[in-house]
Amino acid sequence: MDTAATSKAEIASLIRDVEKSWDAEVRELAQTLPKEEGWISGTSLYLYQGFWCTPLEIKTMISFQTHFRALDSDVLVATFPKCGTTWLKALTFSTLYRHQFAMDENPLLSFTPHQLVRFLELDVYMNNPCPNPESVCVYKPRLVGTHVPYASLPASIKDSNCKIVYICRNPMDMFISLWLFTCKLQDKIQAPPSLDEAFDKFCRGIHHVGPFFDHVLGYWKTSQENPNKILFLKYEDLKEDISCQLKHLAMFLGVPFTEDEEKRGVVEEIAKICSFDKLKEVEVNKQGSSILGIPNESFFRKAKVGDWSNHLTPAMVERMDKLIQQKLENSGLTFKFSYKT
Ligand code: A3P
Repeated sequence: MDTAATSKAEIASLIRDVEKSWDAEVRELAQTLPKEEGWISGTSLYLYQGFWCTPLEIKTMISFQTHFRALDSDVLVATFPKCGTTWLKALTFSTLYRHQFAMDENPLLSFTPHQLVRFLELDVYMNNPCPNPESVCVYKPRLVGTHVPYASLPASIKDSNCKIVYICRNPMDMFISLWLFTCKLQDKIQAPPSLDEAFDKFCRGIHHVGPFFDHVLGYWKTSQENPNKILFLKYEDLKEDISCQLKHLAMFLGVPFTEDEEKRGVVEEIAKICSFDKLKEVEVNKQGSSILGIPNESFFRKAKVGDWSNHLTPAMVERMDKLIQQKLENSGLTFKFSYKT
């Protein structure tokens, strides 16, 4: 078996074996939770606190919820998977710490965005239920990532003055990105989920940290009530005008670009180093795997708005349209599904 296939075999067995490593408390809890087959065959998803979690997350989320103590200065990059997490981590990292290194020595040229901005439940709390707070992030202020829904975040994140930057994306592109990502992880090992099967599960909310709409609306509503706490971003807006969105981001983080920085082109420099074309060519992003065994290159695919139209059937689009209308009605939240013409 080649290396890529070995790594895929490891992911599948890692996901399956986690249940065996549960302690009595988690095992007892899991017995009470609704359970469904995951998108990777032979794996399960559990409905924990209203969201579908992998067996690994049930364990690590409990540690995260119990032990994490947010500092007022912390910044959390919260995202729905496949909505631009990698991009937003890179942008936030480069903006927040821009005075700590020269741009041509940006650590993004040597480390993946996921190594620099670590996931709490999928990395930091994975092998240690109570890690040293200093180890969470080597930079100051601390910058960390999560896919955990707003309602399930530890109280100290909600009650402190720490800031949350959230990104989401139109659900059609997000779904296609997730489906193709799952297929890529799974091919050669066993049959990937069919588009029909995955689409039906998505519409029923059964997918990693789904339902999508509940996740997005949790952060959306809080951002509306407290815009100083959560900056709510959309992938399509970043694609449309990255400089404008970067300036918003810097302002929100309390490190606005100065007039002099704008004149020197710092905004454009950050946009460029974090761009899809640049990041996907950085050596560390082309080889190796994440702590979960996911190949680093699988976080970079096409990065287009509207790719869903190459995959979804008219019947799927109709079902998705109805779902979007029903779920987002009266919320004030809208999405763009194609580039402005
Ligand atoms: P596609 O599968 O549509 O290409 P996440 O980082 O949340 O896992 O999201 C992955 C999606 O973001 C993929 O979308 C990927 O190609 C895209 N992406 C990764 N890096 C990006 C970047 N620097 N700029 C824009 N999009 C990026």
